[in-house]
Amino acid sequence: MSTTTDFPTVAVLGFGTMGAGIAQVFAASGRTVTVLETDEERIAEGRARITAFLDDGIARGKVSEDEKTGVLERITGTTRMADLSTVTLVIESVTEMAEVKSALLTEVAGVVAVGVPILTNTSALSVTELAAGLPHSARVAGLHFFNPAQLMPTVEVVRALQTEESLVEELVALVEDLPGKTPVVVKDRPGFLVNALLLPYLNDVIQEYDDELATAEDIDIALQLGLGYKTGPLAMLDLIGLDVHLHATEAAYAATHDHRYAPPPLLRQMVAAGHLGEKNGRGFRVDTTPTAS
Ligand SMILES: NC(=O)c1ccc[n+]([C@@H]2O[C@H](COP(=O)([O-])OP(=O)(O)OC[C@H]3O[C@@H](n4cnc5c(N)ncnc54)[C@H](O)[C@@H]3O)[C@@H](O)[C@H]2O)c1
Repeated sequence: MSTTTDFPTVAVLGFGTMGAGIAQVFAASGRTVTVLETDEERIAEGRARITAFLDDGIARGKVSEDEKTGVLERITGTTRMADLSTVTLVIESVTEMAEVKSALLTEVAGVVAVGVPILTNTSALSVTELAAGLPHSARVAGLHFFNPAQLMPTVEVVRALQTEESLVEELVALVEDLPGKTPVVVKDRPGFLVNALLLPYLNDVIQEYDDELATAEDIDIALQLGLGYKTGPLAMLDLIGLDVHLHATEAAYAATHDHRYAPPPLLRQMVAAGHLGEKNGRGFRVDTTPTAS
């Protein structure tokens, strides 16, 4: 079993939906976390997201005030790459675009010590291809959390072609040390294990909605209750982020040319129109846009 003395200081790249959740999970395990973002406003938003999550936990009697204080104290935001020079582990969770991730990973690899694991939370990009551009690719792997990272127990440990076996073992021990998390070791293939099945399912549901098979609410009720899932697929898309799902399914399609991953036209249109789901209050099941009076 690992302890917080293994990878005591962690860098999280990106303080969006997933970066905030991942930072919170590592901080809750006692580790010190530095989160890199593009600007101070996004750092403030990330902290606010964690604070709201912890406040909700306090209201429901699941989190103590001391735990909240401890988690927030252990997380620092920065916009300066140089502040990551002493970390013992890096996990990137920035925008799902290969060129954005590659540029950032190359930069961080030049700042941290040799041998520090560099991990990606990508949903659908090839970890092997991301690793190929980096100097010590044996120490690169995927660590794929599910949304919301604070609550979802499964974490996929993704073995790229270059990943050394000892790193896979270190990551399995690390995930087992994170509160409530269970590791699953998977091969690097588009969508890994879970998203390889989830992406086509969500695409089919969007097409059903576009075909007006039923209302958004009824589609969710039918599939949630019919399949015994916790969430309906359209509510899940709003939670994931329509832009995030689009980038993920586009990447899986580009890698495989499997038509099941081809983004449905309505998804592209909604993202182009700025309907991104819960993060901006416009999606399949959420609409908090003020109506004109
Ligand atoms: N949303 C999900 O359900 C989900 C689930 C699992 C994995 N993922 C993956 O997690 C990653 C992040 O997704 P998200 O939903 O958190 O996206 P998001 O859009 O909420 O957040 C991305 C963040 O990255 C930041 N960023 C972009 N470029 C940066 C840079 N150069 N330096 C520092 N920060 C930068 C952005 O400012 C933004 O805050 C993606 O790879 C996505 O595929 C998402």
